[in-house]
Amino acid sequence: SSDHLRHVDSMSQLPSGAGNISSLNAVILGESLASEEHDLVFPSPHFSSQALISSPQQYQEMYKRSVEDPAGFWSDIATSEFFWKDKWAHEVYTENLDVSKGPIKIEWFKGATTNICYNALDRIIESGSGDKVAIYWEGNELGQDGKLTYSELLNKVCQLSNYLKHVGVKKGDAVVIYLPMLMELPITMLACARIGAVHSVVFAGFSAESLAQRIVDCKPRVVITCNAVRRGSKAIHLKEIVDNALVESAKNGVSVGLCLTCENQSAMKREATKCQDGRDIWWQDVVPQYPTECEVEWVDSEDPLFLLYTSGSTGKPKGVLHTTGGYMVYSATTFKYAFDYKPSDIYWCTADCGWITGHSYVTYGPLLNGASVIVFEGAPNYPDSGRCWDIVDKYKVTIFYTAPTLVRSLMRDGNEYVTRYSRKSLRVLGSVGEPINPSAWKWFYNVVGDSRCPISDTWWQTETGGFMITPLPGAWPQKPGSATFPFFGVQPVIVDEKGNGIEGECSGYLCIKNSWPGAFRTLYGDHERYETTYFKPFTGYYFSGDGCSRDKDGYYWLTGRVDDVINVSGHRIGTAEVESALVSHPQCAEAAVVGFEHEVKGQGIYAFVTLVDGIPYSEELRKNLILTVRNQIGAFAAPDKIHWAPGLPKTRSGKIMRRILRKIASRQLDELGDISTLADPSVVEQLIALSDS
Ligand code: PRX
Repeated sequence: SSDHLRHVDSMSQLPSGAGNISSLNAVILGESLASEEHDLVFPSPHFSSQALISSPQQYQEMYKRSVEDPAGFWSDIATSEFFWKDKWAHEVYTENLDVSKGPIKIEWFKGATTNICYNALDRIIESGSGDKVAIYWEGNELGQDGKLTYSELLNKVCQLSNYLKHVGVKKGDAVVIYLPMLMELPITMLACARIGAVHSVVFAGFSAESLAQRIVDCKPRVVITCNAVRRGSKAIHLKEIVDNALVESAKNGVSVGLCLTCENQSAMKREATKCQDGRDIWWQDVVPQYPTECEVEWVDSEDPLFLLYTSGSTGKPKGVLHTTGGYMVYSATTFKYAFDYKPSDIYWCTADCGWITGHSYVTYGPLLNGASVIVFEGAPNYPDSGRCWDIVDKYKVTIFYTAPTLVRSLMRDGNEYVTRYSRKSLRVLGSVGEPINPSAWKWFYNVVGDSRCPISDTWWQTETGGFMITPLPGAWPQKPGSATFPFFGVQPVIVDEKGNGIEGECSGYLCIKNSWPGAFRTLYGDHERYETTYFKPFTGYYFSGDGCSRDKDGYYWLTGRVDDVINVSGHRIGTAEVESALVSHPQCAEAAVVGFEHEVKGQGIYAFVTLVDGIPYSEELRKNLILTVRNQIGAFAAPDKIHWAPGLPKTRSGKIMRRILRKIASRQLDELGDISTLADPSVVEQLIALSDS
């Protein structure tokens, strides 16, 4: 399993502690506070008294039942809080997570029929909340906004569902969605779900090539996009990107017959957009003509709901497949408890629906709880760095969920942008995507939340569907930078290199024992890769790819990826993807990409490049290499640093020693370690000499 475990060296430097969940009581009772006392941040008695989970004891009782009797725990929630047309045959089937004993198959509520769109809209309306606002939309420009009640949202969803059915989209068909944060994005997701179609949202910052790659993989009946979007002061012509992607996918044997294009008038008038007769249809010309009622397609709990591509340690993105029933129960339940959700809350998650956070915690989790959600099209620093707090005050946001990278960048811009606004509506803050460093945590807590709002630092992944390790804000004290304790039903296990679970205070690789309802079921079209990547490294466990330590009080501290995945501003990028983009440049012979610590982004991308013989390194070439990556993957994957490498440090068998490259990238030159096993140790000197070129 050593291939999966590259950063062992960096983990030994982490703080470690001991403990387990049962020592949580001791923390509360003040028995083990000693040296770390000053780091504990308690929820106010007022907050705890009104919280859904208000004490460690209450958490422990529920947690205990959730792991001792997962079927009973989850079926009680599924029964009391959701609508099922037919009941399930089994609550859960996950006897086997050991690949050597046969294929991995995870099922929750198999045999039941339901529909997540019905549960998120019709059910909420039937309970009397039809006139409650489901979505507040805030555009890029100040003063540009809109809203939809639950009833209005259902009407819009039904019109699109009817249109999609009319053009032949059927249960099980894939629909690719390439939209910015317009209301049409959640509308489209829900419309697909209503008719049993499988949506695959592609973040609208991906390039045409990346979009084409995803289209070729899932072969959609329809691609849904818009003409353009403004983010900050820039206009981006999304439809042109889709046009190029469709040409590219046709070359690879996948022709898409229909491209439904929403006219985003605020960004650009439709006249400026090229259309292909017979293939391209304007949303506004067709969808509003369809009836506002649409029968629900009842699907099996295990029927696919969506595909979402994410980066792994090889070049090809992985199509993470989530199914319906378990994901529904899990996204809704995690949302409710981790944010201590109340019907009066106004909830804002800054994530884009192009990522898992936007799936589970912009669209499904909140709407399944009947929440009012803000969908923000713009950039958080436009027109200035106070935009977020302007929005918080405008809508009286109570729960604000964002990423550490945004916290750090706003922190750098200064407190005045924050303190200029009241923010007194805020009650709970949230963080996701990467470890939040204690100083950013404290700024978020003290400055943004006026030392009054607990922070839910939620650890989870595209694959997990919902929160796995997260504070329950009223239940226990927090430690800045720790995701605290596992959610109900989640059994984290920290293992050593040999895969042995380690008890107590320790650090190692984070695995999960057994399954939970929101777990992904396969990688689309590649179940073998699913098993190899996630279940083979440590027998009997799901392997997260993250390093983790547990302190003496049982708190979990996530320490970042241990595989070849970099986390840039909370976006997962495979080093292999960037490398393959770089070597597609005709003058680049070889590339090796590593992450390095970046003040705002968490990690930055550092690329070592070897050029084709005889090609001189130049500033122009550097820019072109970066441009190549932008064009092939997307702007968010552009390397921060290109380091010219006449040679790369390789073992005698030709393997690149990334450990050495990471040290050079982070300028830890006195920690290079043993370089004598290199085929040519002199390349290291040469690389160091070229460090500042
Ligand atoms: O390394 C972990 C990091 O983000 C990875 C998952 O990325 P992705 O699938 O894109 O999902 C991001 C949103 C859930 C994880 O393997 N990560 C996510 N949340 C945290 C985190 N690391 C530390 N603390 C977190 N709260």
